[in-house]
Amino acid sequence: LSNPDVDPFEVAREAAAQIAEKTGVAQHDIGLTLGSGWGKAAELMGETTATIDAAEITGFSASAVVGHSGTLRSILLPSGKRALVIGARTHYYEGHGVRRVAHSVRTAAACGATTMVLTNGAGGIKPNWKPGTPVLISDHINLTADSPLEGATFIDLTDLYSSRLRDLARTVDSSLDNGVYVQFRGPHYETPAEVQMAKVLGGHIVGMSTALEAIAARQAGMEVLGLSLITNLAAGISENPLSHKEVLEAGAAAEGRISELLARIVDKL
Ligand code: 6GU
Repeated sequence: LSNPDVDPFEVAREAAAQIAEKTGVAQHDIGLTLGSGWGKAAELMGETTATIDAAEITGFSASAVVGHSGTLRSILLPSGKRALVIGARTHYYEGHGVRRVAHSVRTAAACGATTMVLTNGAGGIKPNWKPGTPVLISDHINLTADSPLEGATFIDLTDLYSSRLRDLARTVDSSLDNGVYVQFRGPHYETPAEVQMAKVLGGHIVGMSTALEAIAARQAGMEVLGLSLITNLAAGISENPLSHKEVLEAGAAAEGRISELLARIVDKL
């Protein structure tokens, strides 16, 4: 994927063929990326009929980040639909380029998925969002200064985070708030001044993933649902300094509850 002469969609088709072969499932309906804090949802969602080590599939690597499983699973949902559950996100900050970031979404699309669910653990800018609060992503601000699209690919991003799917999610939990997700490059957390900037710009959630993936999903014609788990308040919003350990702990504490929520939402898709 780092070779500009290689077509990233061709690589995604190759990965999709390998997944179809290894899972015995020719067609998946839903792609779902599990971010930190959401991992338990895979067990609750339905019947896992195949689990693949992501490193065995072209373009994927075992995620370097603690909190990501490094597997791809094929799950039969109670609704009868098939979900491809991706526990191997490549983050932009890993430095492998935006094609690698977009690859899992493009692979899900090449597997037949028309819906992409993107989840993440993120920092909250609203003080009333306690750690452990799930938030529906209603829009994003991409501060990576990059795009998964190449060349003259002018794509409309209005309603990128489908209002139809957000309404559907709220039929499962009417207390779900909307929030604008701001993707920073990372891997450092933001300074308090950068968090204030994000707030002034209209952001509510800060993170290091999702926006670039959502753009790739829209390019692939998919309908996108985005969910953030607030694992901590962003720098300067809370008095405490941030630690990755605390982010993981907050995720673990909320995991059962929000995973069940996600499983119930996915069954409605
Ligand atoms: Cl505060 N910022 C970013 N960029 N990502 C996060 C986070 C904060 N908390 C969890 N993930």
